[in-house]
Amino acid sequence: MQNWKALAEKVELALRENAINGEPKELYEPIDYSLKMGGKRIRPTLVLMAGDLFGKQAEELLHLALAVEVFHNFTLLHDDIMDEAPLRRGKDTVHKKWGRDIAILSGDVMMVKAYEFLAQSDAEILPQLLSLFNQTAIEVCEGQQMDMNFEEQTEVSITAYIRMIELKTAVLLAAALKMGAIASGASASDADSIYDFGRNIGIAFQIQDDFLDAYADPEKFGKQVGGDILQNKKTYLLLTAIQEANENQTERLNDLLSNNSDSQSKIEQMIALYDELNVPQLTQNAMQDYFEKGIQSLEKINVSSEAKNELIDLVKMLMWRDV
Ligand code: IPE
Ligand code: IPE
Ligand code: MG
Ligand code: MG
Ligand code: MG
Repeated sequence: MQNWKALAEKVELALRENAINGEPKELYEPIDYSLKMGGKRIRPTLVLMAGDLFGKQAEELLHLALAVEVFHNFTLLHDDIMDEAPLRRGKDTVHKKWGRDIAILSGDVMMVKAYEFLAQSDAEILPQLLSLFNQTAIEVCEGQQMDMNFEEQTEVSITAYIRMIELKTAVLLAAALKMGAIASGASASDADSIYDFGRNIGIAFQIQDDFLDAYADPEKFGKQVGGDILQNKKTYLLLTAIQEANENQTERLNDLLSNNSDSQSKIEQMIALYDELNVPQLTQNAMQDYFEKGIQSLEKINVSSEAKNELIDLVKMLMWRDV
């Protein structure tokens, strides 16, 4: 069993060895910037962890790991435009540094490059991988559109929210694991169980992302703290606050939501309301529930519990992360 940190190192190295460069430099520089500016490398590490679980060497799965990570970074370039985000991983976002047009176009190249990495797979399994990857990519876009629709919608149920984050975030973590499983010759039922594990863990991961967006330490977080509040994002925090608020608190909430000036005071007042309503604790509970659901799916998989423990270790780090 390989330590997940060692696998994450292999991803980092492979990213450097397969750097995406070219001309015109205006197109390629932002790609290099985005791929070299750090990041937790969770999704590619999950590809390799699944390989490890089902007995495939990391070296044989690196092209899949790269496909997933390059795709993820492409979605971030476009996501930061949609979310008007100024900061990512402690640095200017690509659209902030080079402008929106470049962020769109560099992102497009990254998506194609992701497919190039994917296409390095063995011919016998390529159709299956391609179909999973395509489905996932479309679902991420569906989730992103729902996320934007919800900004304008006054009533969003927790169920609709969970579906939205399942699409925008969880399916990619799930697909990363399943791709690793498929390429390692896992049985169809094990591949499905690991997908399900990733889906639940991915939902927990996005709930934690929502939590951190309001509560992270700005020194460590690397993104703008309170960005979701400024955008009126229907996060788990906001939906829980809406659900828990009494009449007076509902009025305060609605006032804040209709205040569209980018002010620090909007963030502070919203967080004060969240605190009053015990939202942080309720959010952590929801995150924990999905984490446990994930662990149940993992239990169904037919490999030694020792092999699963490393994966659980990685996931625990993800759940209780501060970045
Ligand atoms: C950010 O993903 C986008 C979400 C789906 C929440 P990560 O938190 O994995 O971002 P990096 O790659 O580590 O920066
Ligand atoms: C991002 O969700 C999901 C995708 C990038 C597809 P967020 O918008 O919450 O991610 P961050 O917080 O900007 O990383
Ligand atoms: Mg965003
Ligand atoms: Mg977003
Ligand atoms: Mg977020």
